[in-house]
Amino acid sequence: MTVNELEAQLDTICLQAKAAIVAADSLETLEQLRIQYMGKKGPIPQVLGGMGKLDPADRPKIGAKANEVKDAIQGDLDGKKNALQAAAIAAKLEAETLDVTMPGTYRPQGRLHPLTSTTDRILDILVGLGYTVAEGPEMETDYYNFEALNFLPDHPARDMQDTLYLPDGNLLRTHTSTVQIRYMENNDPPIRVAAPGRVYRRDTVDATHSAVFHQIELLAVDEGLTFTDLKGTLKVFLQDLFGEELEVRFRASFFPFTEPSAEVDVMWKGRWLEIMGCGMVDPNVLKSVGYDPEVYTGFAAGLGIERVAMVLHQIDDIRRLYNSDLRFLNQF
Ligand code: DAH
Repeated sequence: MTVNELEAQLDTICLQAKAAIVAADSLETLEQLRIQYMGKKGPIPQVLGGMGKLDPADRPKIGAKANEVKDAIQGDLDGKKNALQAAAIAAKLEAETLDVTMPGTYRPQGRLHPLTSTTDRILDILVGLGYTVAEGPEMETDYYNFEALNFLPDHPARDMQDTLYLPDGNLLRTHTSTVQIRYMENNDPPIRVAAPGRVYRRDTVDATHSAVFHQIELLAVDEGLTFTDLKGTLKVFLQDLFGEELEVRFRASFFPFTEPSAEVDVMWKGRWLEIMGCGMVDPNVLKSVGYDPEVYTGFAAGLGIERVAMVLHQIDDIRRLYNSDLRFLNQF
């Protein structure tokens, strides 16, 4: 081999390597090229091995040329490596771009059911009037639901509330008046208590009736309470709840646990709508919890929360409050 031939070989190796490096499209391919061209078994050491037959004076020329080619190839490898790494980072950044103008994920906002918000509103007013909130069980005995409330055995007053009896002789309370007895049994007068809760009746469901509904019971027991206190309290309460303009009327009625008794109506859509029952606590009820009716008098009232919600929100059918239709509930 002549010096010129060896130089030509080195030039060819250099051109091939450069072309292959330009074409490399991944870091793996590039690494293979590095091993192929720069390794100990690569083409350059092979060319250098052919120097033995050269005039010793020419050898440094080839050695220098080989180093030039190695440097050139190494330079291209480094450059290409940087370019491929930069491209990989750019591609990753591109793929992970956050487009802040894209519409966000919509999370529906929860809210209180109209029955819950109505209950809260009623209790807020009563708490403001000095009442404490209490609760009682939904499964009751005949004693708390009827007997202690002065419903005599076999008295027709029991038929006013079609009762759901349980196999064990207990029942599902038909009203929250049960809490009157339970609260008085455990507390001494003076008493101001409000008791919200679910009640049950054997009722046929229609636009104004449901077999399960909600009431709030009101009870005040003290020395010297009169029907005037009852009327004044309920008037203030209803005006706070419905607004000053609402027409309210008291109508004589009957409940076994109050004497005298009344029903309270509000004027709604041109007709009177019964909203609550009330009255002076019957002396027999006070006696049943060991209070002396000669010392204490009291008044009580019970109102249907559904009725209040329907009046406040102009709801025409009680069933809308139970069937969880979001088109309805979203309006509140
Ligand atoms: N408990 C009665 C009912 O469910 C409502 C009622 C009337 C409650 C008069 C009272 C009251 O506290 O005094 O029909």
